[in-house]
Amino acid sequence: SITHVILTGGVGSRLWPLSRKSMPKQYLNIFDGKSLFEMTVDRNRNIADKVMVVGNVDNCHLSKDVMQKSNTPYIDIIESTPRNTAAAIAFAAFASHPDAILIVTPSDHIIDDMMPYKLAIDEAIEKASKGYIVTFGIIPTKPETGYGYIERKGDDVISFREKPNQVSARDFIAKGNFLWNSGMFCFKAGVFLEELKLFHPEVYEKSKIAWDNNTNGTLDLALSLEIPSISIDYAVLERSKKIKVVSSKFVWSDLGSFESVYDYLVSKGHPVDKNGNMVIGTNTYTAFVGLKNTIFVYTDTANLILQKDNSQDVKNVYNELEREN
Ligand code: GDD
Ligand code: MG
Repeated sequence: SITHVILTGGVGSRLWPLSRKSMPKQYLNIFDGKSLFEMTVDRNRNIADKVMVVGNVDNCHLSKDVMQKSNTPYIDIIESTPRNTAAAIAFAAFASHPDAILIVTPSDHIIDDMMPYKLAIDEAIEKASKGYIVTFGIIPTKPETGYGYIERKGDDVISFREKPNQVSARDFIAKGNFLWNSGMFCFKAGVFLEELKLFHPEVYEKSKIAWDNNTNGTLDLALSLEIPSISIDYAVLERSKKIKVVSSKFVWSDLGSFESVYDYLVSKGHPVDKNGNMVIGTNTYTAFVGLKNTIFVYTDTANLILQKDNSQDVKNVYNELEREN
């Protein structure tokens, strides 16, 4: 059987103030009147025969609204606190038969064309059934430091490097045989758990204890806090020898930071002035003087003025506000 596992734990802190803890970006109806979460569910509807949502206590009602509206039965896994993707995926794997194939996707990406997406998924499922952990690689267009990089030869992965620094990222792009990791994965539940156990036994053990003691899918807070917070990229992908990559031809955008939102909006014809300045969230006429590549984000309760190149730092504002509250 094939299960679509939707990860929806993130708060989208790099998209503050558009994205809020109470309304993370994946639930905002900002693109085509649908939320990114809803688009994720729709995209995989005819591919998987089961859906699992791994989210948290703060957003599970938002997921539920979408699933009920579209009459989609699903298995709800509710984290009491985010412990990052290694643990989140482990919970989905514990909830599955070891031979079940899991297609793990974030809930906050844009994928524009379905044909190449389906082709990539088919190829991934085939490799996953042979016991590999499959990643979906995207041809990189710039030395973005917020992504994982897959060094490959054909579909073999020579190395996986999560979030390199600028110098390394430039080097990877220049070398030409590196792909971006899209953050989607496909594998048998049992294969993932074996590799997690091998390369990060503590995450494996502590997640298992938390999972074994869950009540109806809701995880215990104290047991969850014991789990090291680490992503699947650092915990498994950088270390496992069972990784294969499917080079994907679909148009992909991780709307992870304002820089990528900016690029996406530009591609959709959203206006920028002659110095590359952009306004998001209001139609009120706004002038930029002496500024280049600035993004002005307007919301009812908070505004952000940002140099596009500093998009990765927006999470610091979010974190500071969290600390004060
Ligand atoms: N349930 C749950 N619990 N989901 C989580 C948690 C958690 O604790 N933490 C993160 N997620 C979800 C996020 O909501 C998002 O959908 C996905 O997992 C990935 O997490 P991000 O925090 O967005 O990761 P990233 O963007 O820094 O990096 C990942 O994605 C990049 C592409 O977008 C990595 O896989 C990179 O290698 C990759 O290039
Ligand atoms: Mg992301």
